[in-house]
Amino acid sequence: AKVTWILADGRAIVAEVADGTNMMNAAAMANVPGIIGECGGCLSCATCHVYVDEAWAERTGEPDGTEDAMLDATDAPRRETSRLSCQIVASGSLDGLVLHVPA
Ligand code: FES
Repeated sequence: AKVTWILADGRAIVAEVADGTNMMNAAAMANVPGIIGECGGCLSCATCHVYVDEAWAERTGEPDGTEDAMLDATDAPRRETSRLSCQIVASGSLDGLVLHVPA
C-alpha cells in the first residue's frame, strides 16, 4: 500500500508499505521523524502516535480498549482521529493512506 506521512512542518514522506507491515515499522523504514516506536509495537509506549487523515479514519477503524487507554498518554494532544500507528497494518484497502505526524 502506498502511504503518505505529513510532517508537522508540512513536508510529506511517501513510501510503499508491504501488506502486513504495521505503520510504526513502516515509518521507521521510511525514516519518518517523530515516530519513535519505543516499545517495538507492543502497545506500551504511545510514541508511535499519529493522526489519521479524516478521509481515512473510517477505514483504519477505532482503537481497541488497550490502545484507547494508551492514547490518553501521548505527548501530543489526542484528537478524534488519533491512533497508535503500530496498530494499523498495511493492506490493500489502505492503499493511499494518509497519516499526520504530531508536532
Ligand atoms: Fe509502542 Fe506503538 S510502538 S505503542
